Parts: sequence; C-alpha cells; structure tokens
Amino acid sequence: MKLDINFIREQYAVFRDADSAEWAFFENAGGSYIPDQVLKRFFNFLEYTKVQPYGLFPSSKEAGTAMDAGYQCIADLINADGDDLTIGPSTTLNLYVLAQAFRPSLKDGDEIIVTNQDHEANIGNWRRLSEFGIVTKEWQVDPQNGELNIDDLKLLISDRTRLVCFNLCSNIVGTLNDVKAITKLAHQFNALAIADGVAFAPHQIPDVNELDVDVYLHSTYKTFGTHLGVMWIKQSVMPKLYPQGHYFNADKPHYNMNPTGPLHAEIAALAGIGDYYDTIYEHQYGSTKLNRHDRAAKVFELFVNHERRLSNLLLYTLKNIPNVRILGQSEATSGTRSGTISFIPEGIKSSEVVKKLLENQIAVRNGHFYVVRLIEALGIKDPDEGVVRISLVHYNTEAEINRLCQGLKNIFT
Ligand SMILES: Cc1ncc(COP(=O)(O)O)c(C=O)c1O
Repeated sequence: MKLDINFIREQYAVFRDADSAEWAFFENAGGSYIPDQVLKRFFNFLEYTKVQPYGLFPSSKEAGTAMDAGYQCIADLINADGDDLTIGPSTTLNLYVLAQAFRPSLKDGDEIIVTNQDHEANIGNWRRLSEFGIVTKEWQVDPQNGELNIDDLKLLISDRTRLVCFNLCSNIVGTLNDVKAITKLAHQFNALAIADGVAFAPHQIPDVNELDVDVYLHSTYKTFGTHLGVMWIKQSVMPKLYPQGHYFNADKPHYNMNPTGPLHAEIAALAGIGDYYDTIYEHQYGSTKLNRHDRAAKVFELFVNHERRLSNLLLYTLKNIPNVRILGQSEATSGTRSGTISFIPEGIKSSEVVKKLLENQIAVRNGHFYVVRLIEALGIKDPDEGVVRISLVHYNTEAEINRLCQGLKNIFT
C-alpha cells in the first residue's frame, strides 16, 4: 500500500496555503510542521481550560484530563507505562536533569561512554560530571563517513563503565545505529544504555521494550507535536536516581524528574499526535482493533517506504555529483538510514549551496547543528559552514525531491 500523500498534506495548514506550499521544506530535522489534530487540542486547551489543572471546578478538571490524555498518548505510542514518562521543555534539559539525578550514585573513577556523533545534549551534560571525578570516554566515528563502529565501543567498555550514552540515529549522518547490539554490550558490563531518539522518532515508531534501552528520549517538536522533550526511564533505573523536583514530589510520576514543572497546553496538545496517526490509519486501512502503538506502527510502515523512496532519489543524484562527500549510507535500504541526508561540498562553501537552493524556494540549512565534535572529526575547518543537511519526512513529495535534485545538479554541473 502507498502513502496517500495528498491526504497527508491536507492535514497541514501550511500545505493548504498556496504561498507557503511553494516552499519545498527540507529542514524537518530542525523541527517539523504541526498538523490540524495537534493544533486543535492546543487551541482548545488555551481557549477553554487554561487554568491550573487538576482542581475540582470544571475547566480545571478538564485541563487535567486533557494533560493526562497527552501523557497517555505518548506512553501508548512508545509502548511504555505512562508513569515512567517525564515530559520536560526539551531533550537537552531532560538530559541535564538526568545527569544531575545520576550524579549522587556515581563514584570517583566511574566511567561514562559518550560518542562524538551525538548532539551535544547527550555529550556535554555527561562530560560536566568530570568535575565530580567521573571519567568520560569517547566512542569516535569513522572520520570519512561519520558512522560509529561497535568494535570501537568494545575496546572502550569495561567493568568501570556505568553508562553508555548514544543516539539511535544521528541528526547529521542519518544512519540508524544498531541499538540492540549497543544495549546488549552495555548490559553485559552492567552498564545502562541512555538512548537519544530525537533524530529517530520522526522516521520510526519507537518501542521502548523492544529497544531494551534504560532511558529513552525524543523531542516532540520534531515528531509533528508541540515543543517538548519526552524522557522515559525504566522502572528498575529509578532507585539509582536522586529526585530533581520539589522534595514533596519526590515519588510523583511526571514531576520527580522535572524541576520546571509540566507545560500544560503543550502536553495536552501531544494527544493530537496520536489523533493524527489515527486519522491516517483510518484513511489508509479502515477501522481496527489494534492498540495505538500498533496502529502507529502500521502508519510508520507507509512513512518508512515513502521516505526510503524519496531518500534514494536524492542519494542517487548526490552520488552522481563528483565533488560531494555524502555522510552515512549512500543508499537507503530497510532499517539502515533515515531521510536525514548530509553532504560536504568540495570547491563551494556549504552556505553558498544553501543560498542557491533558497533562491529556488528550497528550504535547507548548513552548519554544525549542535554536533560540533562530529563536524571537527570529519575534518571540517569551519563548524559554522559545516555540512549541507537535507532532512525529509513523510509529508515531503516526489515533486519536491525532483526540484531539489534539479537544484543540486544546477549548482554542481
Ligand atoms: C539528535 C538530537 N538530540 C538532541 C537534540 C536536542 O533536542 P532539544 O532541542 O529538544 O533539546 C536534538 C536537537 O536538534 C537532536 O537533533
């Protein structure tokens, strides 16, 4: 079955607007557009229930119910127990809080493995713990294509390793890391696996049990929702963590790892992500008895196939341009890469490539995307120039990709 791309685009105000739709938007890894279903929940909350939630008067009760629906929807989508979720303002802040929460249970000389492929959120927050005698070791990428090799992790991991912090997919390289192999290795050494799924979740539906990681995170403003960060912590890990909220909330789910408190309307709106996937499910498959995770998984099967096809059209064009170095896999086969495709141009600055594409209403960006260590490892002298990143998701069309490919050919030939 093929994804009905016209139906998908009808769900977004930005695509219904003729002027906005002129732009081919390929900066989705920076943040995706929001469909009607999410906006409806968001505005409804702001219009009718924007009061302190969980009180006894009607608007307050409704506000609490709407927020609970947001938590439950995310829990269902990632196949988790809702009580194990923290929903904070961003993944960076969630990781900062998580690192502080782990600190009291880590001892002088304990080791944490970080990569130089991750967004700085999953590196810097751990490296800061060196002030307390914690040693960080770096699992380094192949400097040619930016990929991680599990054999290098085997050389670093030891009985002193407490945490292995890595991303399921890089927001630049786009290769899906072998989460099962990484997690298995971490667990063999009694270390915990801390998995950043920010660049993964827009392209694949995560199942935290299946992934078998100990902490999982992603950012909902990249998965068609409001600007929030989701952090799931396995129940068995909680005793190792020192609560980070107010002392009287120490045992309270959603609050014990969230010192800022929940963002009410934004959380309520998250239920709209589930509504969106359900709308697509019903349109494509009809009614069902499947649970929400399984419905979303079926929808993502269509997304994956669609994205793979578009990715391969772009990769084919890039492979035929001699003065371009593609990062990650140069072909998208099942389970190997997301639609985040970056390259290093030779003989022309990244910013020049972007400028020329923008002239043709093709929205892309260049730079380091907060992954400066990777950019340096790849041998790029100026991180602000960095790479050209093209990131597509399921709502991009073949016509947009063709325009992009033609734009690239014009620049390089
Ligand atoms: C892979 C990855 N991890 C973490 C982050 C940080 O997420 P947030 O902006 O929610 O702090 C980003 C943001 O771009 C990212 O791409």
